[in-house]
Amino acid sequence: MATSIKDKAPDLEWSTLPFSYVPTDYNVRCTFKDGKWGDIEVSDSEYIPLHIAASSLHYGQEIFEGLKAFRGVDGKIRVFRMEENAKRFIRSAEAIKMEPLPIEIFCEMVKKVVKLNERFVPPYGTGSSLYIRPLEIGISPKVGVSPATEYLVVMLVTPVGPYFKAGFKPTKVCISREYDRVAPKGTGSVKFGGNYGASLVAGEKAHEMGYSVMLYLDPKEKKYIDECGAANFFAIKDNTYITPSSPSILPSITNMSLKQLAKDLGLKVEERNITVEEIPTFEEASACGTAAVCSPISQIDDLDTGIKYVISPDNEPGKITTQLYNKLRAIQYGEEPDVHNWNYIFD
Ligand code: PLP
Ligand code: COI
Repeated sequence: MATSIKDKAPDLEWSTLPFSYVPTDYNVRCTFKDGKWGDIEVSDSEYIPLHIAASSLHYGQEIFEGLKAFRGVDGKIRVFRMEENAKRFIRSAEAIKMEPLPIEIFCEMVKKVVKLNERFVPPYGTGSSLYIRPLEIGISPKVGVSPATEYLVVMLVTPVGPYFKAGFKPTKVCISREYDRVAPKGTGSVKFGGNYGASLVAGEKAHEMGYSVMLYLDPKEKKYIDECGAANFFAIKDNTYITPSSPSILPSITNMSLKQLAKDLGLKVEERNITVEEIPTFEEASACGTAAVCSPISQIDDLDTGIKYVISPDNEPGKITTQLYNKLRAIQYGEEPDVHNWNYIFD
């Protein structure tokens, strides 16, 4: 049988991949039409045909997810906690009146798209992974503001390195009361595309000022730490893992996993309001998420008061953050037993 380009290993610098789009071989799609989800289709096109009046284009009916597949120490591919992403995808859909995709179809699509693009799962030891991006859009034409009746779910994959360019190196973040990414009772707790559009001005401003990200305060009182534009926040003090409890943040699957790992390490876990005034008491702080993994925070600058809260003067990741990061990575790469049964492992 003739070999094709798709049988070959891609010509990529696996260990230095940025977090950006690299074309792969296939994506998978599923359409909701006439009141039901159709079959999973495989496509090698990077484009979708879309009606010019589609509800996603006019009224923002778009949600997405982010999860990763890892090439383990044993050569096997593992997908991390996909059922949790499937559940959140349903919650996101319901929050903006879209058709929820059943968990079984979501997981079937993940398995299919990873298998089809197996050659793009970065080799073990490179620190990179295959990012899986499911998205759902309203596709039926709408001129009046109302939900679509037809939906398209697409899952694409792309090999990635760290989201925070520094990787597992501390970076500075900033606080500003000038910007909100979500409303107090809005869409912050779901993965709605509009939340990210609303964060672009603040995010670019933070970058221009030399910060890795904006750390948002709660939009109602501007008193409590909420989260970063694309990652949750946690801090460590007195052998305790502290993370915000807020209706306007995305319940992060990474954070959920780190809380469990923190308990396993014998730490106390607190989910509660965190005031800006509490920051100087933190021994360690970090952003966390699928893309961000653990991205330690060395300093938090309050742009409104001018106060600079230095958390790690030596600019090194904290001891407990490092332990948590290593533990999570070890499970994802199959180096340690997956005692919580988080991975789906391909044969
Ligand atoms: N918060 C926001 C706003 C995000 O976009 C993400 C990324 O998904 C996270 C937190 C982290 O969530 P997870 O760990 O489930 O990826
Ligand atoms: C993720 O961590 O998966 C995200 O979705 C964050 C971001 C790239 C939007």
